[in-house]
Amino acid sequence: MPTKIPFFNIIAENKPYAEKLANELELFMESGQFILGDAVTNFERQFASFCGSDFCVGTSNGLDALRLIFEGYKSLGLLTEGDEVLVPAHTYIATILAVIQSNLKPVFVEPKEGSFGMDIDKAKRLISNKTKACLVVHLYGELIDTEAFQSFAKEHNVLLIEDAAQAHGAVTASGLKAGAIGDAAAFSFYPTKNIGALGDAGAVTTNSESLANKIRILQNYGSPKKDMNQVLGFNMRLDALQARFLSVKLEDYPNALNRRLAIALRYVNEIKNPKIKLPVHPQDGSHVFHLFVVRVADRKDFMDFLDANGVGSLIHYPIPPHRQEALESYNNLNLPITERYHDEVVSIPLYASLTDSQVQRTIEVLNAYE
Ligand SMILES: Cc1ncc(COP(=O)(O)O)c(C=O)c1O
Repeated sequence: MPTKIPFFNIIAENKPYAEKLANELELFMESGQFILGDAVTNFERQFASFCGSDFCVGTSNGLDALRLIFEGYKSLGLLTEGDEVLVPAHTYIATILAVIQSNLKPVFVEPKEGSFGMDIDKAKRLISNKTKACLVVHLYGELIDTEAFQSFAKEHNVLLIEDAAQAHGAVTASGLKAGAIGDAAAFSFYPTKNIGALGDAGAVTTNSESLANKIRILQNYGSPKKDMNQVLGFNMRLDALQARFLSVKLEDYPNALNRRLAIALRYVNEIKNPKIKLPVHPQDGSHVFHLFVVRVADRKDFMDFLDANGVGSLIHYPIPPHRQEALESYNNLNLPITERYHDEVVSIPLYASLTDSQVQRTIEVLNAYE
C-alpha cells in the first residue's frame, strides 16, 4: 500500500518557507525588539490591507481576539454584561467561550439543514430586546450570507461580529473580504489554519478606530502609555517573532489558497459516491476550504475504511459545544441539526502541500467506499 496520506502535514506545509523563516529569526534576534515594535506594526498593516479593513490589531490567538472585541465594546459602552449574543450552535467551542468569558449570554442558533452556517431565519426568531450582537462564524472557510446578515444587524441595531478564524481571504461576489464584513472580526493563525504561525497568534480587524484603540490598550495591561494603567487589561499581544513569520506566510498566501481551491474543485467534481454528502462549492471565492467536510451516516465505518486504505481523516467537531461538560448549564438545549451534524461530519485531507497523486488516491478511496 502507498504511504499513508496524513490528514494534515505541518512539516511539509512549512518547508517551502524554511529559508525565509530562518532569515526572519536572524533579523529578529538582531533587532532586539522582542515585544510589539515594527514587526507587529508591519504585519498589522499588511493584514488590514489584505482584508480591506481600516485597522488590524495583532493578538495572542483567535480566542483572545474574540475576547478583546467583546471587552473593547464593553469599554466603549456598546455592550453590557448580561447582553445576549446570537451564536451558531455548530462551531468550535472557542466561539462560545469568548461570549461566556466576557460575561455575555450566548443564544444558540442552529444551522440551516444542508449548510453549516447560522440559519438567519432562526436568528430572526431568537432575537430579543436583550440581543446586542450577532457573532457569525465562517465555518470551515465558507462565508455566511453576508448581505442577509448585514441587513439583519442593521435592522435590529445589533453589532455584527465575525469569527473569521477559518476564513482568511474568503471574499463575496462584490469583493468584500472576511474581516471587513462585520463591525469587527477575529482571526486565528493557529499553526493548522490557512495562514498558520509557528505557534499561537491571532488578530482583530475593524473599521472602527475607537474599537482598535481600546483593544490596543486592553491587550497591553490596560496601558495607553508606559507605566500608566487606565483599565484592568490583559497580556494578549501578538508575539513579535510570529508577526515576522506571518508576514512571510501572508505574502505567499494567494498561491497556497489557489492550491487549496484547486484540490477542493477536484474533490467536488470527482468524488461521486451516494453515501458521501459533499459540501457546497461556490466558485466565487466565498469559500477558502480551511476544511473539506463531508457528511456520512455511518461515520465510524467510513473513517475505519479511510484509515485501512491509508487516508487520514479527522472530525470537526465530535461533540457540540452545548454538550460539553464545561457548558453544563446548556447541556439540556435541544439542537437536533447541530447534534446530527456532529455525528456525521468527517474532514478529509486538504492542504497546499498535498501532492496530485495524494489527491487522486484520496478520491479513489472515497469512491470505493460502500
Ligand atoms: C471557529 C474558531 N473560532 C475561534 C478559534 C480560536 O482560535 P485560537 O485557537 O487561535 O485561539 C478557532 C481555532 O481554534 C476556531 O476554529
